[in-house]
Amino acid sequence: MKPVNVLTSDEAIDELEFLAAELARHDHAYHQNDAPEITDAEYDALRRRNTAIEARFPTLVRDGSPSKRIGGKPATGFAKLTHRVPMLSLDNAFDAADFSEFCDRVRRFLGLKDGVLAMVGEPKIDGLSISLTYRDGVLQQAATRGDGSEGEDVTANVRMISAVPPKLAGRAPALIEIRGEIFMTKADFLALNIAQAAAGQKLFANPRNAAAGSLRQLDPEITKTRPLSLFAYAMGEATTRPADTHSGWLVQLKDWGFEVNPLWEKLESRAAAAQFQTKIGAQRANLPYDIDGVVYKIDDLALQARLGFVGRAPRWAIAWKFPAEQASTVLEDILIQVGRTGALTPVAALTPVNVGGVLVSRASLHNQDEIARLDARIGDTVVLQRAGDVIPQIVEVLKDKRPAGSTPYVFPQTCPVCGSLAIRPQDEVVVRCTGGLTCPAQTEERLIHFVSRLAFDIEGLGDKSIREFHAEGLVKGPADIFRLPEHEAAIGKREGWGELSARNLSAAIRARQTIGLARFIYSLGIRRIGEANAKLLARHYTSFANWRAQMADAVQIGSEARSDLGSILRIGAAIAEELVEFFAEPRNLATVDEVAGFLTIEDAAAPSGDASALAGKIIVFTGSLETLTRQEAKAMAENLGARVTDSVSKKTDIVVLGADAGSKARRAAELGVRTMTEAEWRDLAGS
Ligand code: IVH
Repeated sequence: MKPVNVLTSDEAIDELEFLAAELARHDHAYHQNDAPEITDAEYDALRRRNTAIEARFPTLVRDGSPSKRIGGKPATGFAKLTHRVPMLSLDNAFDAADFSEFCDRVRRFLGLKDGVLAMVGEPKIDGLSISLTYRDGVLQQAATRGDGSEGEDVTANVRMISAVPPKLAGRAPALIEIRGEIFMTKADFLALNIAQAAAGQKLFANPRNAAAGSLRQLDPEITKTRPLSLFAYAMGEATTRPADTHSGWLVQLKDWGFEVNPLWEKLESRAAAAQFQTKIGAQRANLPYDIDGVVYKIDDLALQARLGFVGRAPRWAIAWKFPAEQASTVLEDILIQVGRTGALTPVAALTPVNVGGVLVSRASLHNQDEIARLDARIGDTVVLQRAGDVIPQIVEVLKDKRPAGSTPYVFPQTCPVCGSLAIRPQDEVVVRCTGGLTCPAQTEERLIHFVSRLAFDIEGLGDKSIREFHAEGLVKGPADIFRLPEHEAAIGKREGWGELSARNLSAAIRARQTIGLARFIYSLGIRRIGEANAKLLARHYTSFANWRAQMADAVQIGSEARSDLGSILRIGAAIAEELVEFFAEPRNLATVDEVAGFLTIEDAAAPSGDASALAGKIIVFTGSLETLTRQEAKAMAENLGARVTDSVSKKTDIVVLGADAGSKARRAAELGVRTMTEAEWRDLAGS
């Protein structure tokens, strides 16, 4: 991967697009489906990369950026509840140096040189966080974390959990919100999976998923039968604070009738914390529940209040994670999966092995370069690592265990599904099938994308059904989705369907025949056109008819439509290229028209910037700004449709003068260009 500091802005656009889509997908898999596809460490790495790119290119940060979200959007099926105090996440430390840095940061922030800074260490439970609101000591409401600001109302389900006291024992404040972790013990998880298997129901990947799946049942009676536990550990909103230290608060929680993790300790130095970390790490495998690290919190609540938050996490706490779990096994085969855009992704098929309690038989090998870097060969013994969740990484090949006569892996030069040539464009890591619409694997993945959540979002039409319908020829292209209601009777007779679900499917399909332009554009699955770029395009072209006509024209080099496409703010050359390539294929245009024939495509609202007083204006910032960084000011202007340049000329519309503005201020005066102060600029920009 390219270091962030050498990325071009076009590359940054592409990568942010990719990261937004990836993170949204993984958030969904984790929070809505309770079935993560990557490890926590891989997820954190994606987020860090996103943050680093955004820090370097602040003007590319969009409203829906992953850095502005925590976890997943609330799932459907539950009412939404807004957290009055946001439910945040924790920063991670992976070793003693990271932990020491955290301590330094805290001391620096508080201006504390010496003296004891007491902390509490408690195991970090691998479950799901819950917020419980008690009014006059009576449980009134329970909500999941959701995206941190809005969660799901799971009150009815939580009332079924015996570990949650319906009433607080003893005196309680008028209103208090208690937070904690709902989890399932390892033994309960195993027993539940045995029962699920016996009943022919789906198995849960790990105790965390089992706990989440059990809590988020639409029928609370099912939750009632599931063995859920709770450890309380924090306080949200409260009319009066029942203690002034975290440790005092844990004691109070116990008095009210909550289970509190018994392993917590008050720690008065870094050395004591490091010892605690080792001690809990040694107990980890024998604990009755899964933990993935230790949370360290500053004990004094007044200090916590001073420290406050940065971004998604408090400054007063850190999660020191345990090192990833490893195991070795044999690489039996390398399978090649073909994705929607033809990308060939290698997947390791492994002799099943237990890695930290999870049976693993597959691991992603990412791409051709990764196989070469590892020099992974079929028959090799490999080291697998799992840092928290399901799909693990291959970190190393044990060369001394390599069987004699093994040969390096040769990456296929043809698509394993359709046999077309597979090529790797210069400067790219991905090998792609050139079969396009003729490749059944690509068509199938495109269909799956077409009905997915951010596209047509057709309820009841999952990956499995699409694959079956496609294999049988019932659905050949996207337009056939809208013909499925004609086959309702036949679908109802299929295994696993039935009349009612077939009827529901028809209704779900019809309900989606009116769709917004952005969703429609996204649904086509054009490479690099993720959710955010689809929105940009929709806002620029506003109507389907206009977009379609412009795209058909943009295929001509030198056309006005092509240069217009190139001028859209934040649609870089690489993205424009993909659109042109897509529309240059007559069959794609025909498919778009065929699908559109089934739909009412709603217009998109034009960007607010077009209507703003600043649209099209050329602005110069000079001198030092007090309330804004240069980058923020520039982003503000660009969001409103203005252009920011460095030098003052006759064409300049506005010069914003910061403190100590020098030659540019004089030049503006000479040319008679309008000038304003930073405050006036903020007024004008509406911030
Ligand atoms: S304190 C402001 N304490 O870890 C955040 N969290 O990665 C306060 N978790 O969302 C959280 N055990 O679901 C805290 N002893 C513990 C925890 C714990 C598990 C979870 C919690 C949180 C996540 C953050």
